[in-house]
Amino acid sequence: MEKKETLFIAFSTQKGGVGKTTLTVLAASYLHYVKGYNVAVVDCDYPQFSIADMRRRDVEQVMKDNHYKRMAHVQFTAIGKNAWQVEECSSVDAIAKAEQLQTDGELDFIFFDLPGTMNAAGVVKTLASMDYIFVPITADRVVLESTLQFATTLHDNLITTGKSNIKSLQLVWNMVDGREKSDLYHAYDHAIEELGLQVMETVLPDSKRFRREMTGGHKPVFRSTLFPVDKSLLKGSNIEELVTEFCQIVKR
Ligand SMILES: Nc1ncnc2c1ncn2[C@@H]1O[C@H](COP(=O)(O)OP(=O)(O)OP(=O)(O)O)[C@@H](O)[C@H]1O
Ligand SMILES: [Mg+2]
Repeated sequence: MEKKETLFIAFSTQKGGVGKTTLTVLAASYLHYVKGYNVAVVDCDYPQFSIADMRRRDVEQVMKDNHYKRMAHVQFTAIGKNAWQVEECSSVDAIAKAEQLQTDGELDFIFFDLPGTMNAAGVVKTLASMDYIFVPITADRVVLESTLQFATTLHDNLITTGKSNIKSLQLVWNMVDGREKSDLYHAYDHAIEELGLQVMETVLPDSKRFRREMTGGHKPVFRSTLFPVDKSLLKGSNIEELVTEFCQIVKR
């Protein structure tokens, strides 16, 4: 079978705290551990390096806890591959780093966690090298204004002009009150579409789980770099729906 090219993907926006890192980790883990794709992550969110940091915490937790150790053993034996790789680097070097990762293995997706500002060196250039960009958005006036400005700038300067690699940019509602879109969201969607932008059908609910990592209490895992969302927590989280729609959009 012909080898498919590695797709470069970013959950990105200039607005802070809307879920870039969280959605990157949830999507990467679900695709890599459940769906059988090969994933890597380039963490350029200097100086936080939140994903690389999360991985260090996750590994530490697994090493010191027999329950998680057993879980890891069972999972990694079953899937026959390692955890997705995460590399820290500056956004200036992100593409070079990704190309290096590409030559090391057969990767389906490389995710990029970029700084929350287009002013940081290398961010615009890196964004222009993405195949797909997903822009988390929340129903807050300040977030909406800033996000729509970010998305329209990319859309008008990089996508419609053909001056980039980007095949599509999709907004994705995060921290939604309730599992379904209310009339308010439909009104927003309408306004967004008028701007020529696209919105994902799947919405992510506002839920405490999104903040929870592995604990000594052994509650089912939600956000982890070593495990996918636990089956018991899938319902209502819309993570499976997100990944299914993601695969449709990127045609994989
Ligand atoms: N759907 C959700 N429901 C509840 N909390 C969420 C949800 N998505 C993200 N969060 C929480 O919101 C906070 C910000 O999320 P995250 O760190 O992923 O955002 P970010 O865009 O990467 O932020 P930064 O700009 O700091 O990099 C985190 O505490 C995260 O756990
Ligand atoms: Mg972040």
